[in-house]
Amino acid sequence: MAGSVPADGTGALVVVESMWGNTRAVARAVAEGLSGSVPTRAVDVQDAPVAVGDRTGLLVVGGPTHAFSMSRPATRENAVSRGADAAGATDTGIREWLDEIADIPPNVQVAAFDTKVRKPHLPGSAGRAAARRLGRKGARVSVPPETFYVVEAEGPLEPGERDRARAWGARLAALVRPATPVT
Ligand SMILES: Cc1cc2nc3c(=O)[nH]c(=O)nc-3n(C[C@H](O)[C@H](O)[C@H](O)COP(=O)(O)O)c2cc1C
Repeated sequence: MAGSVPADGTGALVVVESMWGNTRAVARAVAEGLSGSVPTRAVDVQDAPVAVGDRTGLLVVGGPTHAFSMSRPATRENAVSRGADAAGATDTGIREWLDEIADIPPNVQVAAFDTKVRKPHLPGSAGRAAARRLGRKGARVSVPPETFYVVEAEGPLEPGERDRARAWGARLAALVRPATPVT
């Protein structure tokens, strides 16, 4: 996942964790939606920066819902035992990344999302947990967390979810101040 972001508060950074690739596909669609009007970079959480500077305009964090919340090492290992990508079972999910990073400057807009199964309906979501954690990091969480649905734990995404993610990304772009002030 790539792209470059200007360091003047006009760019967006999307950080994603994914075991089977579904949340990554959502992150890519969100980034596509954003990049229509905002320079956007999407990175896997293992490659995410250790600090989000005040020159990032918007930070979007996404991960799979595991056991009603953000994943933990044991839930990621469980996913690997069920055939997920072992590279996803590294020490770092979004929970660990959010624990490690420096406080987020208050001028950075923040949004969170997750993926989960619709059936059975289970309470809790990684997006909500991430938003709470982001708030404790000093971030201004700008929009309610969003959930995108997979058909089974392994995926695929439900039909239409990629489009919904792209549209959500396009709406998030409005949170980033325009690169060229309107005169
Ligand atoms: C250990 C484990 C626990 C899970 N717990 C939940 C849960 O509490 N609620 C839910 O809706 N989905 C749960 N799921 C399904 C995941 O949300 C699903 O695997 C994820 O959305 C797929 O995204 P990914 O391909 O990016 O990993 C769980 C999956 C695993 C492996």
